[in-house]
Amino acid sequence: MDRYAVMGNPIKHSKSPVIHKEFAHLSDQDMSYAAILVDESGFAEAVTEFFAEGGRGLNITVPFKLEAFGLADELSDRAQRAGAVNTLILLSDGRLRGDNTDGVGMMRDITNNHDGRITNKRVLLVGAGGAVRGVLAPLLQENPASVTIVNRTVEKAQVLADQFSDLGRIEAVSFADLSGEPYDWVINGTSASLGGEVPPLPVSVIGQYTRCYDMMYSVDETTFNQWAGELGAAERYDGLGMLVEQAAESFRLWRGLMPPTAQVIASLKGGA
Ligand code: ATR
Repeated sequence: MDRYAVMGNPIKHSKSPVIHKEFAHLSDQDMSYAAILVDESGFAEAVTEFFAEGGRGLNITVPFKLEAFGLADELSDRAQRAGAVNTLILLSDGRLRGDNTDGVGMMRDITNNHDGRITNKRVLLVGAGGAVRGVLAPLLQENPASVTIVNRTVEKAQVLADQFSDLGRIEAVSFADLSGEPYDWVINGTSASLGGEVPPLPVSVIGQYTRCYDMMYSVDETTFNQWAGELGAAERYDGLGMLVEQAAESFRLWRGLMPPTAQVIASLKGGA
């Protein structure tokens, strides 16, 4: 049986094992998928050991995505752009290829699961950490009319805008400088919801046609989506679909086939 796993710290609450076991079942793949808790200083060693013992592929989560980036023997373009690796693939010559499936996961969730369009739309991206960096390249590939990055620490948003400006129209602003017309999409990539907070966005960014997306998810609606709902946003989505779609892309890279995702999203929602 082919062995796969997710490594992180903490790892107890990871939904990846449930998702990949369901993918394997639905697409008839003979594979196992474990969750491995890795000591903060023991990541490289744990990866080496996993593959030495016959492992075929890994997902990498907090706090090891940057270390995985450094450890991979080769990188996909999107991992290079993201500056982080969430998927390691064992190549036939024994080398490790690093990829990042987070961005394509969000884009597939928006376009396939929510029938959303980014092309020619004005997009406001909130935050400038790893989550936002990870989705910028796939987002810009859809040719939005513009992407505005807003962040508490505006310098971090500016660095991202500079690094991705070759891919499309992108600008960085502070919360204080945001005003004017509502955006078509407001995508929250901050961790503010974790602390029950909402980024200090002016209410004018939300209009009756605005669709909101929180990369976070929780059993109850996220604080960002609650806020958007109170302001009358047209749609609110959370990151559960993104989680399943990024997993599906990892699965595709390892197994060479795309697993069905809708059923898995539905069962996770039901059991959440
Ligand atoms: P991740 O890798 O999940 O993106 P990160 O790199 O720590 O995590 O980034 C967290 C993001 O959430 C940052 O953009 C952070 O803003 P700063 O760069 O100014 O720190 C943002 N963030 C966290 N809590 C926030 C809050 N309460 N209000 C607004 N932004 C917040």
